[in-house]
Amino acid sequence: MRTRAALGAMCLGATCLGAGAALAGDRPEGAAGVVPYWDAEAVAAGAALYAENCAACHGAALEGEGDWRARNADGSLRAPPHDETGHTWHHPDAQIFAITKHGTEAVTGGAVQSTMEGFGDQLSDADILAVLAFIKAQWPDEIIARHDALNQRFMASQ
Ligand code: HEC
Repeated sequence: MRTRAALGAMCLGATCLGAGAALAGDRPEGAAGVVPYWDAEAVAAGAALYAENCAACHGAALEGEGDWRARNADGSLRAPPHDETGHTWHHPDAQIFAITKHGTEAVTGGAVQSTMEGFGDQLSDADILAVLAFIKAQWPDEIIARHDALNQRFMASQ
């Protein structure tokens, strides 16, 4: 938490851009995966992209749809929270990236049908990484650490 707070503060002044470039390489010890949640510039860009593209379903505060564990009348799933109460952090970076880019139906070979369509036509890979960086940066430190460990296990298994 201390590290992230310090990075945020560095971005408050006019030096934000320069600091952002330097911060991109300032990967915290233990960080694993491809989502640059420690990069204040990516997180800021991701916040705006999230508000535009994701908040309508996943909630402005990442809280998910109301009664999100219930199903819709047609049996489809509701949008889960992206905060620590949901299960986004149960999936390694590669999976949440693929779901965001291609949509769940494509990723699960049609096993899951939902309104979660891929954003590959609207968002670049860098945009998707920025949105996911924003999401991950909102998690408590303990959840971030668990997700880093999950990424490490996943990458070792590939
Ligand atoms: C039109 C509604 C809608 C929008 C907009 C939307 N989603 Fe989703 N999303 C869903 C639904 C419904 C699910 C749950 C069912 C599923 O996994 O397909 C979901 C699931 C997900 C999951 C899997 C979460 C998990 O724990 O399994 C990720 C990751 C995700 N969305 C990311 C995003 C991101 C990032 C954006 C914005 C770029 C976004 N979604 C925009 C409806 C939406």
